[in-house]
Amino acid sequence: MTTSFELPLWHDLHVHFRQGDIMPALIKDHLDMGCSTVLAMPNTKPPVAKVRQCDDLPYWSVEGYRDMIMQAGGDAFDDVIVPLYLTKDTTPAMIEDGAKAGLLKACKYYPPHGTTGADFSYPFEKFIENGVFAALQDHGVTLCIHGEEHGMEAEQYFDRKINAEEYFYQQRMPKLADSFPHLKVVGEHLTTKVGVDFIQSAGKNFAASVTPQHLIYTVGHLLKGLNYHLYCLPLVKYDEDRAALRAAVSAPDNTQFFAGTDSAPHVEKLTACGCAAGCYTGGIAPQLYAEAFEMAGVDLSQDAGQTLFSNFITNIGGAFYGLPTPQDTFTLVREPSEVCMLQTDAGTVTPLPKGMSTDERVSMKWSIRR
Ligand code: NCD
Ligand code: ZN
Ligand code: ZN
Repeated sequence: MTTSFELPLWHDLHVHFRQGDIMPALIKDHLDMGCSTVLAMPNTKPPVAKVRQCDDLPYWSVEGYRDMIMQAGGDAFDDVIVPLYLTKDTTPAMIEDGAKAGLLKACKYYPPHGTTGADFSYPFEKFIENGVFAALQDHGVTLCIHGEEHGMEAEQYFDRKINAEEYFYQQRMPKLADSFPHLKVVGEHLTTKVGVDFIQSAGKNFAASVTPQHLIYTVGHLLKGLNYHLYCLPLVKYDEDRAALRAAVSAPDNTQFFAGTDSAPHVEKLTACGCAAGCYTGGIAPQLYAEAFEMAGVDLSQDAGQTLFSNFITNIGGAFYGLPTPQDTFTLVREPSEVCMLQTDAGTVTPLPKGMSTDERVSMKWSIRR
């Protein structure tokens, strides 16, 4: 008998919807794969780095970007969380005002120049000193962190003993946890065993989002054939890192690791001297997560396995952000489905599995029914 199970709509707590003509197609893909609430990242052009539209800083606002998402079809989500991009211009007063007005649930830290759209970012230490992290803690605003050390020499960036994420979790995170013991923190798109160990030891204020690609692939998959569609940041890591992530997301007592696809479309993935970082998994993420859970040894034909899966994609992240459990449901079926290119009004986007194969037809092991 074919395995098939029904579960509540789920939450993608790390996604990139960008700006302009590409947005409607991206949002539709997310709705079609059963998303109830999304957390839409603020590394747009310009970045979402002020709370209110009337503030005259030269950025987009949380209010304005939410409206933009709503107008591009996002009003069909149950909720859309837009975190504030932390810059040199972010002030504790801005955080307090945003939180009190109910406009601000989360903020996002990017390592300066570390990733797509991170040019406006500001050093981590500064926010420890200038009252911004303290304001987040005081007003119950979550800090989402792209946890990679900035500006490392290439030799250290992907060293065998310590890489940019490991450095960040060993050198920066402990100080954050000590200085702000009540701050709610999400380690975004976690990739290493060091990161997993830190989150588990840091206690319940800390959580982490985990992508499909970091559960399925290792750096060998990226390098063998130079499959640049798998190039995202932080880079996919080693087998033992992947094993730690798989164990964390599928543990029966998991309360800290939840779904955040980091679906990050690039219409022009190849650049003049390299490649833009980001994998597109819109429309196909629950299918890929289901495959990843099976790779982790979870039996999705059994109730126990289905509960672990549903916890990961809906309940754990929902509890962390205080979201209601969605009433509507969708169904996952263990039946092959074809992955198609995404046509948008801004160009074509290659979903990750298509980028991993030269076959004309590429299919996944799971399908979705709404
Ligand atoms: C993201 C993007 O393209 O916006 N890219 C990525 O490789 N993850 C940025 C990010 O999440 O850091
Ligand atoms: Zn990131
Ligand atoms: Zn991202």
